[in-house]
Amino acid sequence: MLGTDDFLRADRIVVSGAVHYARVLPQQWPHRLRMLRALGATCVETYVPWNLHERRRGEFDFSGIADLERFLTDAAEAGLAAIVRPGPYICAEWENGGLPVWLRANDRHAPLRCSEPRFLTAVDEWYSVLVPKIAAHQVDRGGNVIAVQIENEYGSYGSDPVYLRHLADTLTKHGITVPLFTSDGPAKWYLVGGTIEGALATANFGSRPAEAFAELEQHRPGEAKWCMEYWNGWFDHWGERHHVRDAADAAATLDAMLASGASVNLYMAHGGTNFGTWAGANQEDGFQPTITSYDYDAPISESGAATPKYHAMREVIAKYLPVPDDIPAPAPILAPATVELTERLPLLSTIDYENGVTTPIPSTFEELGLDNGLVLYRHHLNGPRDTQPLTAEGLADRAQVFVDGHEAATWWRNDDNSLDLATGPDGVQLDLLVESMGRVNFGRHVGEPKGLTEGVNHNRQFLHGWTAYPIGLDDIANLPWGREAEAEGPAFYRGRLTVPEPADGFVALPGWTKGYVWVNGFCLGRYWNIGPQETLYLPWPLLNAGDNEIVVLELHPGDANTIEVRDRPTLGEPGGWRPE
Ligand code: GLA
Repeated sequence: MLGTDDFLRADRIVVSGAVHYARVLPQQWPHRLRMLRALGATCVETYVPWNLHERRRGEFDFSGIADLERFLTDAAEAGLAAIVRPGPYICAEWENGGLPVWLRANDRHAPLRCSEPRFLTAVDEWYSVLVPKIAAHQVDRGGNVIAVQIENEYGSYGSDPVYLRHLADTLTKHGITVPLFTSDGPAKWYLVGGTIEGALATANFGSRPAEAFAELEQHRPGEAKWCMEYWNGWFDHWGERHHVRDAADAAATLDAMLASGASVNLYMAHGGTNFGTWAGANQEDGFQPTITSYDYDAPISESGAATPKYHAMREVIAKYLPVPDDIPAPAPILAPATVELTERLPLLSTIDYENGVTTPIPSTFEELGLDNGLVLYRHHLNGPRDTQPLTAEGLADRAQVFVDGHEAATWWRNDDNSLDLATGPDGVQLDLLVESMGRVNFGRHVGEPKGLTEGVNHNRQFLHGWTAYPIGLDDIANLPWGREAEAEGPAFYRGRLTVPEPADGFVALPGWTKGYVWVNGFCLGRYWNIGPQETLYLPWPLLNAGDNEIVVLELHPGDANTIEVRDRPTLGEPGGWRPE
């Protein structure tokens, strides 16, 4: 097992790999970690997503997929040391960069990621619970944690040394004795904003390692050189190309780094899945939500298989470090099957219309205490009115507009959205069903609200008086199946997948448009026919031998009523690596 010395020594190389526990089902952690060890790595790196563990303030969850301590123990059992990156901000293509939405429930401009007292108090409360758990697993206490990161690429965001110092001191106060480090882009302005005295400076990049390490050397002469995120693949956004990085190219860059005596953390070694609604988004070329798969074109595929990149990297690593002989076998794969979804339940018929929240201007998701899912906003538009445009400035992120129960438009936040609307003397009932497509995880847009965030207008007139009905997607156990109900728009569908034994599969929805899939109550994530991702990974631990319940929420029902379970994934046509 590695020691803390190995992390800080300039004359040793370490190969580590990123695996985020929250992106893999716990039953599969041992397999993925043994795959990482068999690649030749002796260390695993993980982020800690704050918003997974403290979804509601003061209520902490470390169970199941959130069981960080079990993940660390599984890693030790696989022969791996661990690097932990506890944020509080993590980026990671994770919803809101890991920050809980309640940080801004009462003030949508409350400062984040700086030494503002309200933010620090929230972090301190969280760290007082989290950090002792990490501390208990440090190498000097018989565990495997060799290093802990402060914040994440802070130089890309801010320049508050008081904040970074506070985080470092708080980690120490709660028992962290292993080395602290920061990670940033390899350029002067990033390093000057993101690093602090007493913590190793590391850099994140995908290519041109010599230039990156020269920058680091200038900033911190003589110190260990770490590429803390070696981007050997990349993630995808809905409606954009599927990123694939050539295996030989990725292996050659790794070889160059190891040959130069640098240590490397493969980002990602195994990406896994953005289950449920945990995928984040970017806001650079408009709003760009991240897909459900976090395969990342990493050496270990989303379903745990050794890819050509795995073999290419393993050969490279074997030049520098001893590599175990055997590669663990992948899980069995289901035989292809078609599942008929025979039951149907309109979404709008499942809402509890007695219990809405009525306010003059529409409440945001955050004000409603809802971190994900959808909100139905209802307003009685009085009349008579001649034809004027209905608009919703600040829509986040997508709305289906119903006029007197009839679907009249679908709005997407990147478009110019407007619906010409006139009414008779009695007016009309307006329903806007608004979906969050994931919160931005990078840059200035982190923490932005979801919903009808700047109101709704008919021409220039603000429409006042809205009732909001939150529709969380966490728990679908109590849907009133079997109820006779007619309503236009989105609907749940249900069917049964019968399998002889649990095994992995890949769910395809040909003919379906956009929505969510649950298997035995667990949400696999979003699907959307704009691609690039066409199949959703169905991990074996979700299945039982025999019958399994499949539920689909389709936002735009059409003729399709069957889904397919396939024996291989389709993540889209390879469209090259990211542009640098
Ligand atoms: C940055 C962040 C990571 C991740 C990568 C891109 O380096 O630090 O969390 O978002 O970009 O995958």
